[in-house]
Amino acid sequence: MSSGTVLVTGASSGIGESTARLLKEQGFTVYAAAPRVDRMKALEAHGIHVLPLDLTDNALIEACVETILDREGRIDVLVNNAGYPAYGAVEDVPIADARHEFEVDVFGPARLTQLVLPVMRAARSGTIINITSVGGKFHTPFAAWYHAAKHAFEGWSDALRVEMAPFGVDVVIIEPGGIRTPFGDTLVENLRKASGSGPYAAAANKTADGTAKLFAGKRLSDPSVVAKTVVKAATAARPRTRYATGYQAKPALFLRKFLPDRAFDRLIESMTS
Ligand SMILES: NC(=O)c1ccc[n+]([C@@H]2O[C@H](COP(=O)([O-])OP(=O)(O)OC[C@H]3O[C@@H](n4cnc5c(N)ncnc54)[C@H](OP(=O)(O)O)[C@@H]3O)[C@@H](O)[C@H]2O)c1
Repeated sequence: MSSGTVLVTGASSGIGESTARLLKEQGFTVYAAAPRVDRMKALEAHGIHVLPLDLTDNALIEACVETILDREGRIDVLVNNAGYPAYGAVEDVPIADARHEFEVDVFGPARLTQLVLPVMRAARSGTIINITSVGGKFHTPFAAWYHAAKHAFEGWSDALRVEMAPFGVDVVIIEPGGIRTPFGDTLVENLRKASGSGPYAAAANKTADGTAKLFAGKRLSDPSVVAKTVVKAATAARPRTRYATGYQAKPALFLRKFLPDRAFDRLIESMTS
């Protein structure tokens, strides 16, 4: 059994919900946070504390950390999991929507991390676990803003890892592949809204159809696969710097690393057209 206090963001659904449950089963005191608190009733019944947290709202971010520190006096593990796909052709996605993607997937978790770091630094221990994506290493069409945010979060996390090493605080990146969660519905909805009509419609709708089929099928991994990886990272004496996990994560990263750009582009085109 493990002890310590953990905060998991985006815990009302998918990977975050599964992670909160597994961490609780491992013995952690778990705080689950998300905008839709009503969706976390089952977690509450499981002995998990729930808090409202919209990562675009600085006051809620500060209140979330303050509440946990008032009650527990410590935060040992922060799991920056919340995120969503702002899909659509670059030309079609309004810049306000692109900024929102960065607020939720980069600046919100960055602000939350800033508030947690002094506590971990003083304790000379702690683990920040950032859920990025294999999409933080490669690219697909109609996902430029999502890839941009996840690439940014990867680079930010790498730099933070080096900054925090002298203070005994670990920073871990987890790069999920395809995971069966409501993320697929959000992706398809956002893609159709942005590019379902207009110059990119044919290819965008084909991508939306293919994605909907993939997420409805059985090939994608269960969110518990990522939850187990989070527990591994949170309980390791010396966690790895990054873990790739879930459907096609490792082959996708391997191909991106070793194929030249145009060969990788052709591979992606053949898979999406
Ligand atoms: N599923 C995949 O294939 C996959 C692959 C690679 C990486 N990922 C990453 O894994 C993470 C979790 O995704 P998931 O698949 O579990 O998706 P999900 O089931 O759609 O869950 C997304 C979570 O993020 C929360 N969220 C959305 N907007 C937010 C905001 N403004 N502030 C705070 N929280 C917000 C949602 O809360 P509400 O529902 O309460 O709004 C929800 O709890 C994301 O970072 C995603 O990019 C997923």
